[in-house]
Amino acid sequence: MSITLSIIYLIATITFVIGLKNLGHPETAKKGNLIAAAGMGLAIIGTICIHDIDVPLFIYIIIGAAILTGSIIGWLIAVKVEMTKMPELVSLFNGFGGASAALIGIVEFGNNSGGISHVATIIAAIAIGSITFSGSLIAWAKLNGMMWKDIRLPKYNLINNVFFLMLLAFSIYIIWSHTESSLMIILLLAASLVYGVLFVIPIGGADMPVVISLLNSLTGIAAAITGILYDNMVMLVGGILVGSAGLILTFVMCKAMNRPLSNVIFGAFGGDDTVAGSGEQIGGTIKKTNPSDAAVMMNYSNKVVIVPGYGLAVAQAQHVIHELEELLTKKGVEVSYAIHPVAGRMPGHMNVLLAESNVDYDKLIDMDDINPQFKNTDVVLVVGANDVVNPAAHNDPSSPIYGMPILDVENAKSIIINKRSMNPGYAGIQNELFFNQKTSMLFGDAKEALTKLVQELKNM
Ligand code: TAP
Repeated sequence: MSITLSIIYLIATITFVIGLKNLGHPETAKKGNLIAAAGMGLAIIGTICIHDIDVPLFIYIIIGAAILTGSIIGWLIAVKVEMTKMPELVSLFNGFGGASAALIGIVEFGNNSGGISHVATIIAAIAIGSITFSGSLIAWAKLNGMMWKDIRLPKYNLINNVFFLMLLAFSIYIIWSHTESSLMIILLLAASLVYGVLFVIPIGGADMPVVISLLNSLTGIAAAITGILYDNMVMLVGGILVGSAGLILTFVMCKAMNRPLSNVIFGAFGGDDTVAGSGEQIGGTIKKTNPSDAAVMMNYSNKVVIVPGYGLAVAQAQHVIHELEELLTKKGVEVSYAIHPVAGRMPGHMNVLLAESNVDYDKLIDMDDINPQFKNTDVVLVVGANDVVNPAAHNDPSSPIYGMPILDVENAKSIIINKRSMNPGYAGIQNELFFNQKTSMLFGDAKEALTKLVQELKNM
């Protein structure tokens, strides 16, 4: 490799690390994304232009056309996608990353000239890439509602685990036997695609973020493997960064959703023992409130905590909630936001949403820090959040979210919950908090209800 290309790859690698570091904070995330993208652009241009092989012109034309088409499609999708649909987009991107690694593996198998480690790398790229591809497509279909119901074969845990072990054994056989048979590779491809489907298909409800993050990590591993195949430092480092960042996120998600990682990997997800309880027995009387009464309560409070959730994002009410917060602050009320790690539909969803409306980052308090503060809170205003404040996570061992850490809003002196109806949230279960004597339900679309609330406060 030429020294110039090595330097370009080094620069690109550094930009990935700097970019990733910047992505860790909403204020610098945009800059981080641009820095890493610029590095990737540089690496691509360097790879295309700097080499010592004879490349016919039409190959450059094909590469140029592919980059242009991909960039236009990617740009259009990214510009148009709504924030709430971002996890679906991430799933699709994961899937295509996996598909690329599998295709590279297939092409390289045809050119197979290396030793056993080379073949092992090719087989790993095909298997991991294909699992990621089909698994991500299923995750995408589930997230956009095309495949809502969780399909569980009888004894699916056993089937999945046996299938996985057979796939592993078959991969080892191909590597060991030095076979050049295309049939074997087609079988491996088909089996890996099937395993990806089997792996994701039974998973549903509140466990989906862990799967997406795990698939994200697998995409990175697949990319790193192709980096080894081509002895390409940028692909290797980029893949390792995605793989490890995805894995760290998986652990964070596991903790937030109370799922051990072994449970995720070996398919015990959402097992029969966890789906039985759905809180159907919950009932009682609810107390309704209106914007005027809610405004009075908040106006005479010392401390108000706002709990944003998925509904806030759907209603695009982030600007009006910021206005509410500023208004209350001006009136001498201490206001902060309680951020649950899986509120919304993607990691950091609430942080990004509130950063959009310039909410001061210091006002966003993480779950572990805010939970002890609820007992000193006069009013908690829950806006479009449901599962992340559901006490069933503490009280009901039969609930699918039992054990998931939640925001302990029931400890506050009074609770106002804004949502449109009594419909459940993502996990599909009723919430006993709505029937709590301290709770008042403020029904309506978040943007409309909060706008009225702001108006009432302005009139006071
Ligand atoms: P959810 O439990 O999904 O509840 C959202 C609530 O918002 C719903 O009950 C809905 O009730 C209400 N809502 C919807 N549109 C609204 C609108 N326009 N105005 C006012 N309210 C509206 O949300 P959450 O508490 O944020 O919890 C997130 C859930 O998603 C968790 O179960 C989590 O595991 C899962 N999940 C999270 C992620 C990540 S990584 N964050 C990814 C995938 C899934 P109405 O229909 O009655 O209005």
